[in-house]
Amino acid sequence: MSKLVYLIASTLDGFVAGPDGADPTGPGGFWTPSPDYVQYLVEHYPETLPGPARAALGVTADNVHFGTVVEGRKSYAVGLAAGVTNAYPHLRHVVFSRTMEQSPDPTVEVVAGDPVATLQDLKRSEDKDIWLVGGGELAGALAGEIDRLIVKLSPLTIGTGIPVFGRSATFAPTAWERVEHTVLDGGAVFLTYDRLAGPPQV
Ligand SMILES: NC(=O)c1ccc[n+]([C@@H]2O[C@H](COP(=O)([O-])OP(=O)(O)OC[C@H]3O[C@@H](n4cnc5c(N)ncnc54)[C@H](OP(=O)(O)O)[C@@H]3O)[C@@H](O)[C@H]2O)c1
Repeated sequence: MSKLVYLIASTLDGFVAGPDGADPTGPGGFWTPSPDYVQYLVEHYPETLPGPARAALGVTADNVHFGTVVEGRKSYAVGLAAGVTNAYPHLRHVVFSRTMEQSPDPTVEVVAGDPVATLQDLKRSEDKDIWLVGGGELAGALAGEIDRLIVKLSPLTIGTGIPVFGRSATFAPTAWERVEHTVLDGGAVFLTYDRLAGPPQV
């Protein structure tokens, strides 16, 4: 069984994007990653860098953790708006949408069905782990299926925006066990947690 891993960049106050749902790290965005943050991704999670960033940085490394990336249609649309029809050509790429009639790219699979059932099938059939890139709304729908959380915590607060589990998340206390943490000089902290069985004890 492979795992579903929600690896996400979050502000200190728990947001993955601003209220407008635009790309916060794009040109004119408010969220600029530090050089050591980018370097950490290059060394430890090279497959999570989009294809254009890999090309710009000269990254040709094999996939380390993930073989598949899953994302919500609004996150996928951020790349599309920049003219990128598949930001992760080095991974199997699945986009969840009930409104897209067809995929803009033959290498991107658009799934209109239930994300939970689809993820349960993917976990059984995929060898490598599955990366849930976001956004918050899809993560909220898949919250019960997430086996591992990797939070890339940025030294930034924004007050409001799209929360880690979306604006419609339901109240569901869940306990997690810390398995790894890395503190970067630039101020970001990478936190890895695995889901704990049983009731939360905090
Ligand atoms: N900080 C980070 O690491 C990070 C990572 C990724 C994205 N983001 C940001 O996140 C923002 C987008 O997040 P978001 O929460 O607004 O949207 P999202 O989760 O990316 O996409 C939401 C869409 O996914 C589809 N979807 C969601 N739940 C579904 C379900 N149960 N069944 C079928 N389809 C479902 C729907 O598409 P349809 O409407 O087509 O049905 C829905 O409108 C962007 O600003 C992006 O830049 C940040």
